Amino acid sequence: MVEEKAAVIILFGGSGDLARRKLYPAMFGLFQRGFLKDRFAVIGTARRPWSDDYYRDIVTNAVKDQPGATVEAAEAFAAHFYYQSHDVTDAAHYITLKELAAKLDDQYHVGGNRLYYMAMAPNFFATIAEHLKSESLLTAEGFNRLVIEKPFGHDYQSAKALNESITATFDEKQIYRIDHYLGKEMAQAILALRFANPLIGAAWNKDHIQNMQITLAEAVGVEERAGYYEGSGAMRDMVQNHVMQLLAYLTMARPQSLTPEAVHAVKGDVFDHLQPYTQEEALANFVRAQYAPAVVDNLTVSGYRDEAGVAKDSLTETFVAGKITVDTPEFAGVPIYVRTGKRLTRKSTQISIVFKPVAHDLFGAQAKSNVLTIYVEPGEGFSLTLNGKALGQSNDLTSEELRFRHDERATKAAPEAYERLIQDALEGNQTNFTRWTELAQTWQFVDAIIAAWHTTTAMPTYPAGTMGPKAASELLARDGNHWVWQPTHVQLAD
Ligand code: BG6
Repeated sequence: MVEEKAAVIILFGGSGDLARRKLYPAMFGLFQRGFLKDRFAVIGTARRPWSDDYYRDIVTNAVKDQPGATVEAAEAFAAHFYYQSHDVTDAAHYITLKELAAKLDDQYHVGGNRLYYMAMAPNFFATIAEHLKSESLLTAEGFNRLVIEKPFGHDYQSAKALNESITATFDEKQIYRIDHYLGKEMAQAILALRFANPLIGAAWNKDHIQNMQITLAEAVGVEERAGYYEGSGAMRDMVQNHVMQLLAYLTMARPQSLTPEAVHAVKGDVFDHLQPYTQEEALANFVRAQYAPAVVDNLTVSGYRDEAGVAKDSLTETFVAGKITVDTPEFAGVPIYVRTGKRLTRKSTQISIVFKPVAHDLFGAQAKSNVLTIYVEPGEGFSLTLNGKALGQSNDLTSEELRFRHDERATKAAPEAYERLIQDALEGNQTNFTRWTELAQTWQFVDAIIAAWHTTTAMPTYPAGTMGPKAASELLARDGNHWVWQPTHVQLAD
């Protein structure tokens, strides 16, 4: 039974790209499924002076082509949207916002529930949180929850300062820090694979796993985001958050239950055991690089330093590969290789678990490692390679693959990451959001690597359309390992 959620959602960043591409379609998905129905209103705020009608057209256009949408449904949904031109530094604007929210609360019988959603330039997050308090926007009745997008800070110090600002207004139980990877179907499926299958669960430890590999590859370049990306780079943009969260799901102990407290307790334990690197170790265990121009399918693709808005001598990495270890009794010493980058061969997020080969050579050392690969996106599913016997008289082995892929239509129809996360926030479920302590630890870990990089101006390159620099393969070769996923067919559009 779908239970309608009542709330006034105040969206800071209502005119933005994220809102259009992800948030409106996600809310529309909730509307189609009946989670948002009659008792909700969305106030979009941004600086531009838009009318409600103009804003509703934007929202309608953003959702009308969603699976199963009709223009009537899109318009009925958009009728719940209101626009307020808002200068986030102007206290008077918060008073207007408060009055509008109170009016809509009455009109839609919302009962004081508020979701404050920060989806705009992060330098304003703290100012907004402070004004929400000083102008008393939080309601006495109903819930008040803050949903906050990444980036959560630029490094540990700035993340800490941001956290202090928002916790002056909201307590940890009211804060929903988004990492949209936690809303992805297959990220959540990691827990089912690990904890609902005794066969896999029994082998999920250092005695059986030789290494783990996490790849978040993108085919696109920096696109129009150089303004943000130049100050960020792949380490801050992808490793500190998405990669680390997947790593935690792969290495955490079994939680007592799937409640936020239980899941965060075991995840926290992973981050407590991240093995820190000295400067020298950081340089040896982490590789950074930038994409260089290349001709792909007769098309010339720009290098990073030639992209609009990028400095000619930029030292921002568009690729990272690294080795991480988690010093828990279950995983101490197991290398966890991670890599992510822009302008790689193709778009795919996948995880490979490489198991140790058999210790004896009954079959003449032919047995290969079993590999479990989790396809996070696209092509959601997983595969497992096993050794089989070749047909015939000999005892030759063949490598066989068991493969499961979700039906494409079914994955398209399933709630998208943002839809799931907004639903969770409306339901008050923090399981799939990040805790401050996790962010503090992951920032400290990546800060140390970035600081080590700052001691050198060396910046290897890789041709656009490849899987990174040679050093990324050497990182594994040094340990006698190799990247399981080595795509060759280039597909530059995501
Ligand atoms: C975002 C990054 O967090 O994740 C982007 O800021 C990146 O640079 C995006 O493109 C990738 O997300 P997804 O869901 O497309 O893999």
